[in-house]
Amino acid sequence: MTRAGDDAERRDEEERRMALDLEPVILGALTRADARRCAELEAVLFDGDDPWPAVAFERELASGRNHYVGARIGDLLVGYAGISRLGRVALFEYEVHTIGVDPAYQGRGIGRRLLEELLEFADGGVVFLEVRTDNEAAIGLYRSVGFEQIGLRKRYYRVSGADAYTMRRGAQ
Ligand SMILES: CC(C)(COP(=O)(O)OP(=O)(O)OC[C@H]1O[C@@H](n2cnc3c(N)ncnc32)[C@H](O)[C@@H]1OP(=O)(O)O)[C@@H](O)C(=O)NCCC(=O)NCCS
Repeated sequence: MTRAGDDAERRDEEERRMALDLEPVILGALTRADARRCAELEAVLFDGDDPWPAVAFERELASGRNHYVGARIGDLLVGYAGISRLGRVALFEYEVHTIGVDPAYQGRGIGRRLLEELLEFADGGVVFLEVRTDNEAAIGLYRSVGFEQIGLRKRYYRVSGADAYTMRRGAQ
């Protein structure tokens, strides 16, 4: 495409985003139809750390143990998050599997809303998660809702070799 074409496309995208900014963020169920968009966001958010392809989201969504939620502005999916119930009998424990917000919409409270929705699903249960030790934004978010660091997993992330903290939130 020509430079003028690129510029026009960028302007269109900017205008579309500005129009969307005026609309509220709505949380709701994540569906199979969202898998491709989730994979697109993953590729940006977890570049170099084994981002999930669409088929991984489809698999996650197919499991009755999992609870997935999406954040939308108009028809644009701007965030997603999922949690899994562990064990077969109560009292259940839970594990956060993923959470991500489109970089263009980060810092507006969407990640917190998504996480709160997952924690509602896990009401009364202990919740675990893994997070890269250098992921300050996510660690800040998790601490703010009661997660505490309980362990260090060396080279937890296979591709980058980065370390992870295991965090735990007691039953509430
Ligand atoms: C982590 C993530 C989901 C947070 O989403 P978000 O919509 O930007 O977060 P929010 O605006 O709801 O902020 C919630 C809290 O996160 C923390 N936080 C967010 N951005 C931060 C930053 N840049 N530095 C430090 N803390 C930050 C703060 O505690 C914040 O609370 P506050 O606004 O009351 O201070 C988002 O940064 C993201 O998608 N990151 C890439 C994917 C990822 O790392 N996922 C987690 C894998 S374990």
